[in-house]
Amino acid sequence: MLKDSVKTDGVIDDHARRKFLKMIGAGTVLAATGVHAHAQSLGDGLSGRWDRDRFQPQDWARSRYRNAFILNPQKLFMNIGTAGSMPREVVRFFNDANTEYARESLNGYGNFAALRAQIAPGFGVDPDELVVSYNTSDGMCHAILGIPWQAGDCVVTTNHEHPGGNVPLQIAVDRYGIEVRRIQCPTGNDQTAEEYEFLFQEAIDQAREDGLNVRAMMWSSPTFLTGTMLPIRRLVDVAIKNELISICDGAHLPGMMAYDYAALGVDFMSGAGHKWQCGPGSTGILIIRNKIRSEYNQLPLPAYFPVTTSSYSTNRPRTDGSPGTVAWTERATGPVATYDIAAVIQSCGSKHSPMLNALGKACAMWDEIGRDVIEEYILSLSMRLKDNIASRWGVQALYAPMDDPELVSALTSFNPFFYNPELITDAAASGMFVNRLRDEYGIIVRNTAVPVIGSSSLHRPIRVSTHLWHSVREVDRLVDACWDLADKMSRNL
Ligand SMILES: Cc1ncc(COP(=O)(O)O)c(C=O)c1O
Repeated sequence: MLKDSVKTDGVIDDHARRKFLKMIGAGTVLAATGVHAHAQSLGDGLSGRWDRDRFQPQDWARSRYRNAFILNPQKLFMNIGTAGSMPREVVRFFNDANTEYARESLNGYGNFAALRAQIAPGFGVDPDELVVSYNTSDGMCHAILGIPWQAGDCVVTTNHEHPGGNVPLQIAVDRYGIEVRRIQCPTGNDQTAEEYEFLFQEAIDQAREDGLNVRAMMWSSPTFLTGTMLPIRRLVDVAIKNELISICDGAHLPGMMAYDYAALGVDFMSGAGHKWQCGPGSTGILIIRNKIRSEYNQLPLPAYFPVTTSSYSTNRPRTDGSPGTVAWTERATGPVATYDIAAVIQSCGSKHSPMLNALGKACAMWDEIGRDVIEEYILSLSMRLKDNIASRWGVQALYAPMDDPELVSALTSFNPFFYNPELITDAAASGMFVNRLRDEYGIIVRNTAVPVIGSSSLHRPIRVSTHLWHSVREVDRLVDACWDLADKMSRNL
């Protein structure tokens, strides 16, 4: 019966959810998010965690960081989850570096050691653990396809993954014969971080019972469909308990969250440089665990071979100061790396150094402002947005949670058609909403197609990103615009 809750296709079953709620003693199974009638009460579900005192008066009207960007003032860009925007000084650096590259006929050979050394501390890791990749998808391919899989291996993941992770997984299925099991993600405010631990553990147990060799967990933090921040440290703890490789699709993490990846202990985290980190279009951050910090993750480093590189060799120079070389397969067993794995992944022919170095500029800007300051600012805006949505539509309109602080991100998804259950799954109405919001209100957002437990059709919420260039007033403007447009569309206007 458990298979129903971890199957990959077909009608979604909520058995695992019910089991979890029963286990924690919840008396009733709450109905799936977003399927009820019109939102009723003002103030329903307000978290009360949004603290207006954190904001300076200027943040209400205009973000103090707005001037750092060259964004078109005719539009309000709230789809950073798809693409960020290079700050003015990064654009200038990139342009100058490009000109210099052409004028001096430069090349991009090397392993970008200085750049990695500059960026790594902002992510809490050493330079041998950070690669400047081309984007999240590129990093996910590095991570997943670099693992020597065997037929019968199993990866436990979720049903809310992006193709950036799903596609390399599918290659591993076809090429090596691995099997993929998926937990069904809860949606809305009625979910907790503990629930994810439970769901993953349950799926691992079931796969083992079915005779599979469970080798890895993979998940998105946050998911691109709802913006739910799957709790990385908790899931790494599940991985450690089960002796599994941990792979996090963190497309939205760089530039959004001030995470220390050494402390998170995850084996691989692949994120974008071009989204919240506001670097050039083809940039990403790949973190790869290359030493054992036993307080965070005492598991042996996973076997790994680089996928795209021009500097691999069977024996590598040692980085621990001892003479001679070390075999590629001899990974560190303690806190000192045996060799610089990131250098090998980084170095692949000639790369466009102006682009990679421009990401370094964006990272330097983030470090200077303070990654924690940025995280707090943009999460506060997102809480303001979630509170406003809960006030206007009711908390059930949210697909992203707001009450469990571990699950909150700066991505907010909600259904402005919550008053009309028929429209909740209507792809055309959702698409029209996004287009009209752009054309009539000048606001750029996107929609997503979300599998919801208990629903045989995908739900179609819109997804809003709150970032550094936004003010409180702009968040409120978005809410007013959505309210107004939903009302118009309900009257066929
Ligand atoms: C969760 C997730 N993973 C992967 C990607 C792909 O990102 P990229 O374009 O950086 O490869 C996205 C893009 O939005 C995403 O949201």
